[in-house]
Amino acid sequence: MSDGKPGTRACVIGWPVDHARSPLIHGYWLDRYGLDGTYERVAVAPEEIDAFFRRFPDSGYAGCNVTVPHKEAALAACAEVEPVARAIGAVNTLWMDGGKLCGTNTDALGFLANLDETAPGWDNEPGPALVLGAGGAARAVVWALIQRGFQPKIANRNVARAEDLAHAFGGGTEAYPWEARQALLWDARLLVNTTSLGMKGVGDIGLDLRGARGDALVTDIVYVPLVTDLLDLATSYGLRTVDGLGMLLHQAVPGFERWFGLRPTVDAGLRARIVADIEGRAP
Ligand code: ATR
Repeated sequence: MSDGKPGTRACVIGWPVDHARSPLIHGYWLDRYGLDGTYERVAVAPEEIDAFFRRFPDSGYAGCNVTVPHKEAALAACAEVEPVARAIGAVNTLWMDGGKLCGTNTDALGFLANLDETAPGWDNEPGPALVLGAGGAARAVVWALIQRGFQPKIANRNVARAEDLAHAFGGGTEAYPWEARQALLWDARLLVNTTSLGMKGVGDIGLDLRGARGDALVTDIVYVPLVTDLLDLATSYGLRTVDGLGMLLHQAVPGFERWFGLRPTVDAGLRARIVADIEGRAP
């Protein structure tokens, strides 16, 4: 871990990177704890990514976050990778240790921490969990659910992608075609949307939530809008819901701790700041 010495620098890399909200999150914590550090956005084009990682030890950065499309390249570039990142197949948090580039994936921890904080006891009686989607985000969610004893049932438009994921994780994970999602809902303890459906104007998930268990928890990893149509519908049927913003906030905690030497808290002020940004208001 970094000793958090004054002037520590970290960044987020992506292509494009303008939309990344992690500078707001880390900037909030740097202010809140009065630390002398910086966290910047760095745009790195796909053709430059290998050179970027090669030069990273001399860059002056203590570490970085990695966003689309560089998470797989980051995994390949690391000298040491934590098992969770290896299992998910992507690295989103990097740091230097003894001159070596090290990496992990904090999305699964962020997903779990969000549910633990917002819906305590959500994993008391694990059972089948319906996971919509089989992309990169779904890999982190499936890994997380298995840790807590759930059996993920993955429904995806491209069923081959769901099968790859189920094959990679095992542990009761099963793959289904997208059309099976309604039938899978009836005994699901948890419904997680990891598809881009739910983002404004992308499309409708097409689920009749009257078919859900009354005690099912519904969560979406989409957080723009904060209340997706799925969450809105679930609330109207009296189901418990958790929005996706907490996952974004909690996944940032381990990186900040590594680079700046202090474990930050996800508090109401941080959430309000990001909500204001999502809603296009000044904080
Ligand atoms: P991420 O890394 O955020 O998970 P991704 O890898 O592009 O992003 O995955 C997006 C997910 O949304 C996929 O499961 C995708 O389904 P396919 O694998 O079949 O492409 C899903 N998705 C996107 N648009 C969709 C739509 N119109 N209907 C159903 N699923 C959709």
